[in-house]
Amino acid sequence: MSMTALTSIADVAKSAREKLPDYAWAYYSRTSADGQTYQDNLEAYRRYRLIPRNLRDVSIRDTSVTVLGTRLDIPVAIGPTAIHRFAHPDAELATAKGAAAMNTAMVLGSWANHSLEEVAEAAPSGIRWFYMLFYKDRRRMKRQLERAEHAGYTAIFLTVDQPFFPFSVDKRPPPASYPVPLRLPNIFDVEPPHTVGSTEYRACLSAVVKEPATWEDVEWVRENTRLPVVLKGVLSAEDARMAVERGVNGILVSNHGGREQDGVPATIDVLPDIVRAVGGKAEVYLDGGVRTGTDVLKALALGARCVFIGRPTLWGLAHNGAEGVQQILQILTDELSLAMARTGCAKIADIQPSLVVHQSYYGI
Ligand code: FNR
Repeated sequence: MSMTALTSIADVAKSAREKLPDYAWAYYSRTSADGQTYQDNLEAYRRYRLIPRNLRDVSIRDTSVTVLGTRLDIPVAIGPTAIHRFAHPDAELATAKGAAAMNTAMVLGSWANHSLEEVAEAAPSGIRWFYMLFYKDRRRMKRQLERAEHAGYTAIFLTVDQPFFPFSVDKRPPPASYPVPLRLPNIFDVEPPHTVGSTEYRACLSAVVKEPATWEDVEWVRENTRLPVVLKGVLSAEDARMAVERGVNGILVSNHGGREQDGVPATIDVLPDIVRAVGGKAEVYLDGGVRTGTDVLKALALGARCVFIGRPTLWGLAHNGAEGVQQILQILTDELSLAMARTGCAKIADIQPSLVVHQSYYGI
């Protein structure tokens, strides 16, 4: 498939499917149970319809937005996903370059194959946020917060919808080995002498990470960094309120892309409730199933300040490294800009709740 032939995220996904070995495609595509929530994330956008406004001057559209005090050129950022090395030899270094080329932010995952310092060095001008794990040893957490601050990361993301990591609860036998060398330098100072995925490696992970984390851990992080803190994986308005009470700066409405508990709602469906509960006291974001510029527009209309993408990043990376990541962001930007023009929005602030109606409006 030539570069120019790819005009949609679906095209990039097809190219990634052709390029990725089966084990990598399977790992990236995995959903929990039978994938009800994964499917619902995708389908939910179709349940919302747009009521465009016409005859406005939309000759120039400005897609920029300010998130956690930083200006992004587009309201689409790269969410944390694990093990980019399966998609490309340069792994997270390439992803960071792709995001920086579009002047948007990347959340570096703790399950990355490059250290947070290496990623900062690869894309020094990039906007960097760090997703930190909860560890049993608070000194380890303190050290990581300091490293992140020192390396120019400007926000800390805490994932709260994973009380136990897949390696702790997965009853399937681990793969004997992966055909590419892997390391997890943000988790281990010294890599364990075992194959990634082996029972012994899982035991080393279990020895350091805290499962499950609680509100007390969130409070500790809040008190031990000067960076803004974002909770990722909130679906409950009550949890969102509790987060705000604890001084959390951002809420990322997420169901982990349908990879954790199945049968939970599509994120776009719970977004309005959470926006109401937060009442402007923190920023609210969304991820899950964002595949088109129109999806982005709908999420913003329903109150998200920006959205994050998971699998599309990995597809772009598999398709063509840093350029592939840039390409998926460009596709979403072009689609969003066109959707803004067609709905009468010249800037992000013009994207108002009145732009969207739920299909139940028609009695469907
Ligand atoms: C993820 N996601 C994720 N989230 C997180 O908080 N920590 C993590 O380590 C990972 N790892 C991870 C690996 C892979 C392969 C995928 C696909 C996803 C979830 C991710 O941040 C995000 O919530 C979803 O991917 C968003 O849904 P879409 O865009 O993939 O539909």
